[in-house]
Amino acid sequence: MDEKHEAPGISERSETAHGAWDERYSEAGLVWGRDANAFVVDQLEGLSPRRVLDLGCGQGRNALWLASQGHDVTGLDLSPVAIDQAKEMARASGLEVSFSALDLATDWRPSADAFDLVVLSYLQLPESARKPIHAKAVETLAPGGMIFLIAHHPDNLDQGVGGPPYPEVMFDEAELAEDFAELNIERNEKVLRPVDQAGATKNAIDIVFVGVKLV
Ligand SMILES: C[S@@+](CC[C@H](N)C(=O)[O-])C[C@H]1O[C@@H](n2cnc3c(N)ncnc32)[C@H](O)[C@@H]1O
Repeated sequence: MDEKHEAPGISERSETAHGAWDERYSEAGLVWGRDANAFVVDQLEGLSPRRVLDLGCGQGRNALWLASQGHDVTGLDLSPVAIDQAKEMARASGLEVSFSALDLATDWRPSADAFDLVVLSYLQLPESARKPIHAKAVETLAPGGMIFLIAHHPDNLDQGVGGPPYPEVMFDEAELAEDFAELNIERNEKVLRPVDQAGATKNAIDIVFVGVKLV
């Protein structure tokens, strides 16, 4: 699994970030690989079917895996190029996923109680965009529903490998506890992700968060 994160303009929003992500996804191949993230699989395998929302779904690796597990999945991402690729992969795999392109910070108006699980996988944004998106993720979650988040931890900047080199898009355990204060926090911790680099295995440092909305 490769979580390299070198897209230019990641710390920006609007047209610049939009164009940068489209450019990144226009390169040949699957930028984040075909397989779902290992922490997504470890945490979410075996859940009973539910309404799932994947925020910043990219080319859809996690959304497609979740659909293959029987969930009713919606994937949203800024990049129309990535969304087209995700739709094509869904078609080729015979899976049904509702994929749409939109800016979660500026254009997403979530319905309340619409999802039982919201997944955020390496959606690294500056605080001014992150906080409203995290608040909207909680708003759209039904009572008893779960937020699952995996991201690059700030410690990755100087102690890990890969990931964005921008401190302003990283967030730690304390910031997640604040963003998701109204959830019952079940997991909020650093985890190591082995990455193969030129034949040597090195560790990337991620953060995993699981929170459940009170009934
Ligand atoms: C590092 S990629 C991760 C993709 C996917 N979640 C995965 O793990 O394979 C981050 C994704 O966030 C999307 N993104 C960044 N800012 C966004 C925004 N404001 N609204 C929606 N998507 C955004 C990018 O287009 C990109 O696909």
